[in-house]
Amino acid sequence: MLDIKMTATTAPKAKPADENKLGFGKIFTDHMFLMDYTAGEGWHDPRIVPYAPFPMDPATVVFHYAQEIFECLKAYRTADNKIQLFRPDCNAQRMQDSADRLCIPQIPAEDFIQAVKALVEVDKDWVPRIDGASLYIRPFVFASDVGLGVHASKHYTFCIICSPSGAYYAEGIDPVRIYVEDEYIRAAPGLTGFTKCGGNYAASIKAGELAEEQGFAQVLWLDGVEKKYVEEVGSMNIMFKIDGKIYTAPCTGTVLPGVTRRSCIELLRDWGYEVVEDKIAITDIMKAGHEGRLEEVFGTGTAAVVSPVKELDWKGDKVFISEGKIGPVTQKLYDTMTGMQWGKLPDTKGWIVPVCQG
Ligand code: COI
Repeated sequence: MLDIKMTATTAPKAKPADENKLGFGKIFTDHMFLMDYTAGEGWHDPRIVPYAPFPMDPATVVFHYAQEIFECLKAYRTADNKIQLFRPDCNAQRMQDSADRLCIPQIPAEDFIQAVKALVEVDKDWVPRIDGASLYIRPFVFASDVGLGVHASKHYTFCIICSPSGAYYAEGIDPVRIYVEDEYIRAAPGLTGFTKCGGNYAASIKAGELAEEQGFAQVLWLDGVEKKYVEEVGSMNIMFKIDGKIYTAPCTGTVLPGVTRRSCIELLRDWGYEVVEDKIAITDIMKAGHEGRLEEVFGTGTAAVVSPVKELDWKGDKVFISEGKIGPVTQKLYDTMTGMQWGKLPDTKGWIVPVCQG
């Protein structure tokens, strides 16, 4: 159990005037959580302090060698004004897995969850009230040693910040166009694809920008060895409904094990769908698309929730899905996930973790 020291802000910021215009990750709450790690001492000094910039030495390891990991989850306000989280234990576990790969000291799951809850409770007035908006929570850990040697640091900082946010895509729940990337890769066996580390995203930005210039929301990554099998999209996992079955890439080291991904798979199986977690070739997906068997395509992610895809473009070949509309399974998943998260549907899976009264 952490003994969290609290320093409240003396200059609270104005809350957003219009929650319909929050955007994603643009504004931040009044406080942040901090905890330090020192080799030999472990994690220490957990504290909530006013949100503020970090004074950092230019030679801090994270600036040079990107030894950094992060997580993302959300706090939701229910109609009866309760504040709640969705499966924070999964984020705590994934952060430990990321930490292990990046040689960063792990944070005990109960401490991670306690820190998230404590910060959300302090800044509970920032949890949006309108439908579809939530408090996006960004925990992250970075190497804070000063020096240019390439080694594991002896000092780290764990920080949590929160941002009242709306939909990740400008399109909201409207279907998006996805570019299948055939030049750059995101991950390869033995690398960091399964972790949530900043470096994975840094390496993905160029392809994302090029795709955006052509009007695509994001890129779909193929495997890094043969560029043959589909893996994931920029900020979400991806699923394909073909001939009534759902296909998605397996989490065998190169794909991010998404919390929304695993939750959707559980729901789909509960509803009687066959979900195949196996390699699936882009050629098979395009073929199914041309033959009218590609019934639905959707992404899953904390930020994006469940996001329908209306078009895939691969090497100049295009397939259009569900006539540009959201398909029935995508809609049911979206409604069920958001229904549980915002407390409109009963939590039949035990996924909701209450934080406090709003
Ligand atoms: C998520 O939803 O899982 C994310 O981390 C999205 C973020 C990279 C924008």
